[in-house]
Amino acid sequence: MSLNKKCRLVILISGRGSNMQSIVETIKNKHLNAEVAAVIANKTDAKGIQWAQEQGLATQVLEHKQYVDRSSFDADLAQAIQQYEPDYVLLAGFMRILTPEFVEQFTGRLINIHPSLLPLFPGLNTHQQAIDAQMQWHGCTVHFVTPVVDHGPIITQGIVPVHHDDDVNTLAQRLLTIEHQLYSQVVEWLAAGQICLLDTGRVQIQGVSHRAFVA
Ligand code: GRF
Repeated sequence: MSLNKKCRLVILISGRGSNMQSIVETIKNKHLNAEVAAVIANKTDAKGIQWAQEQGLATQVLEHKQYVDRSSFDADLAQAIQQYEPDYVLLAGFMRILTPEFVEQFTGRLINIHPSLLPLFPGLNTHQQAIDAQMQWHGCTVHFVTPVVDHGPIITQGIVPVHHDDDVNTLAQRLLTIEHQLYSQVVEWLAAGQICLLDTGRVQIQGVSHRAFVA
């Protein structure tokens, strides 16, 4: 990606879209060399879609329920994304497992945020899992996506303390604040062309040695 060209992003959501909102606002407030080319949801009632429309962003909804199987949905989703010619595709609360065929089309350009300190607690109910395991720290991870769900080269992680009286809601809320910071920081690095996925499978961020966030 040339540094003069804006870094084009397509963001995929399934619901509220607060991570997407924080990315859009960071790009605007920090005048980043990036633009959200489109926000795509897999549900018509995804609240974030309405917000994105109000911002004047291109939006699209592909209802996964309308498809007979995962691969036909993923094929249409890939086509919808490609028309916006993104440099990166950001999964921000996109609650769908993607087929390897889809993931491989976007190798090195597909990024996800997961609400746990991977490799701990892949999958769903991560906050409850952290509480049940009596963790004193909980976290979130931004990583490149590989065909293995909630797995892949880690770009950055953030952690928050778990309080003795936390329930899923209080813990999720505390973590969400750092999720927003984390994903926005990643977009800042992407916009500046600082993130390199090395042949070793590790991630290097040029000019940055410490990239863990603590609440
Ligand atoms: C976030 O906690 C994200 O990590 C998880 O789903 C939630 C989505 O929240 N995958 P939002 O839609 O970004 O508000």
